[in-house]
Amino acid sequence: MTDVATGRPRVGFCGLGIMGLPMARNALRGGFSVTAWNRTADRAEPLRAEGAAIVQTPADVARSSDIVVTMVTSSPDVEAVTFGPDGIADGAHDGLLAIDMSTIAPAASRDFAERAADRGFATLDAPVSGGEIGAIEARLAIMIGGDAGDVNRAMPLFEALGKTIVHVGGHGAGQACKLANQIAVALNNLGVAEALVFAAAQGIDLEKARQVIAGGAGSSWAMHNYAPKMLAGDFAPGFMVDLQQKDLRLVLDAAFSDRLSLPGTGLAHALYTALQHDGGGREGNLALIKVIERLSGVEARVETLVEPTPQSADAD
Ligand SMILES: NC(=O)c1ccc[n+]([C@@H]2O[C@H](COP(=O)([O-])OP(=O)(O)OC[C@H]3O[C@@H](n4cnc5c(N)ncnc54)[C@H](OP(=O)(O)O)[C@@H]3O)[C@@H](O)[C@H]2O)c1
Repeated sequence: MTDVATGRPRVGFCGLGIMGLPMARNALRGGFSVTAWNRTADRAEPLRAEGAAIVQTPADVARSSDIVVTMVTSSPDVEAVTFGPDGIADGAHDGLLAIDMSTIAPAASRDFAERAADRGFATLDAPVSGGEIGAIEARLAIMIGGDAGDVNRAMPLFEALGKTIVHVGGHGAGQACKLANQIAVALNNLGVAEALVFAAAQGIDLEKARQVIAGGAGSSWAMHNYAPKMLAGDFAPGFMVDLQQKDLRLVLDAAFSDRLSLPGTGLAHALYTALQHDGGGREGNLALIKVIERLSGVEARVETLVEPTPQSADAD
């Protein structure tokens, strides 16, 4: 079914947090009609003002939509919104496609796909990378697991939300790819944090050091985008430490099942836990440098605030 006025599938959003709200906005801007729900009702009001229909439950979203996106926190939250009371499954109808774009366990995605099929609707897992700024600017990388026909059906929506859109494999493959991404994000972040603390301890100019490292083999997305904010002491989220910690826990759970040894991920997980104990759970994930500073007794800051580039918001 399509929206008669727009000729496009009717789109629903459940979860209007840091990521879900700008993604829903981009769906509206892309010409889709949008119906949305958020657990904390107030957070949906900006979207109502921009033309979305705001409803009372995820089941209501499903009833009014051809494609429903969930963008919540982790596996139990996706389960609650999809299969709980007044969940998406309660409003499911012929042809409904539920796309989970949160970061959750690959095994949970596979389980949800089977349960949804039993209830008569299809699913995709389509987690994203690129952070809040990527969501705002519709530049997300989208990693998709599920059936090709469903991916094709959702492609116009994906194109309204992101730039790099890859169908990785069957159900759960998108989440598996996202967790691999999170290993690289966390360890790059740790590498940058240690490099800056070491440089500070040597007494060299931190901004000059950052610039020259970013031009050589020590360069990375994190060196370009995280390092200036670390040096400026700008730890506002973006991508919260609590979520980074959740993602590394999902990696370690899967690694445990598969008997994998991932020492770097284990270390990063422990350091993020320390940061949570220090009260930093709701800071941006690049606050990891504060743990390294505390362990080393050295602070890496520059006097003049480095102007963040448009891409320098913390991301995952
Ligand atoms: N932020 C990033 O840079 C980033 C990047 C890529 C991927 N992600 C992933 O995207 C997802 C969302 O992240 P975010 O940064 O947008 O988080 P957020 O700002 O904390 O938003 C979380 C959203 O989920 C809702 N929610 C959580 N648990 C729920 C439940 N049990 N029932 C109903 N609603 C629930 C929240 O509702 P309330 O408003 O009621 O709390 C809120 O709308 C996470 O899986 C995260 O790992 C985040």
